Amino acid sequence: MIIRKTAGELEKMRRSGLLVWEILQKLAGMVEEGITTLDLEVAAQKMMDDAGARPAFKGYYVPAAGEKYKYVLCTSVNDEIVHGMPSAKRVLRSGDVVSVDTGVQLDGYYGDSALTIPVGEISPETERLLRVTRESLELAIGQVRAGNRLFDVCGTVERHVTSNGFSVVREYVGHGIGTQLHEEPQVPNYIDRKNENPRLKEGMVLAIEPMVNAGRPDARVRPDRWTAVTKDGSYSAHFEHCVAVTSNGPWVLTRP
Ligand code: MF3
Ligand code: CO
Repeated sequence: MIIRKTAGELEKMRRSGLLVWEILQKLAGMVEEGITTLDLEVAAQKMMDDAGARPAFKGYYVPAAGEKYKYVLCTSVNDEIVHGMPSAKRVLRSGDVVSVDTGVQLDGYYGDSALTIPVGEISPETERLLRVTRESLELAIGQVRAGNRLFDVCGTVERHVTSNGFSVVREYVGHGIGTQLHEEPQVPNYIDRKNENPRLKEGMVLAIEPMVNAGRPDARVRPDRWTAVTKDGSYSAHFEHCVAVTSNGPWVLTRP
C-alpha cells in the first residue's frame, strides 16, 4: 500500500528534507583533496546532534548485509556505487568523485537525499557522468504529478541515461518515504514490468535516486558486505531527492 501524506505531514517531511539539504551543502563545501570520508561523517553526526535529529541510516538493518549499518552517511568513492562506509583511511584525491547519501528522522518523518561531489579536477567524461545523472533526476522530478504513473518517473531516468551512453544500476532502487525510510512503492531507475505501475496521487512522496555507471550496469558487493561497486571498475554517480505529489506539481522536499 502506498501511504499518502496530509499537508501537515508534508510540512514535517519538509523540515527533515531541509535539514538533510543543509547537511549535504555543508559537506559539499568541506570536500577537498586530503580530507577523509570519516571527516564528513563526523561533521554530519554533529549537525544531526545539534538539530536534535535522529540519523536515518545508523542502526538501520539491511538483511543482505546481515547487520545494522554503523554510520550516519554512506560515502561511495569512484567505482563505489552505494553504501560505501566512511573511513579515516579513505583520503580523497583530485580526480575522485564522492557520493554522499544521508537521511534524518525529525518528529517521526524521514528525509533522504544524496549527491555526488567532484574532488579537485575531474576528467571531462566524469564531469559528463555527473551532469547526465543530475539531469536524469531533474527530468524524473518533472514527472511527479497527479495523473502520471510511476513508470513515467522510472522510464524518464532510464531513457536519459541510456541515450547518453551510460547505464542504470538495477540492484538498487528508489522508494516511497514517510514515517518509514523505505515505503512502497519501489522506484527503480528503469521500467520494471514485474512491478505494478500505480497512478501518482496527491500526498505520495517518492525518493528518486538514479545510480548511474559510466560503463556496464553490473554491480557486485565487496567482502565487507556493504559496499556496492561496479564490476567493470567504471565510475558511478548517485543523486537523490524526496519529491511530493501536490496539486501544484512536484514539491522537492530536500532542497529550498
Ligand atoms: N541510501 C539508502 C537509501 O537512499 C539507504 C541506506 S541503507 C543503510 O534508501 F543501511 F545504509 F542505511
Ligand atoms: Co533513498
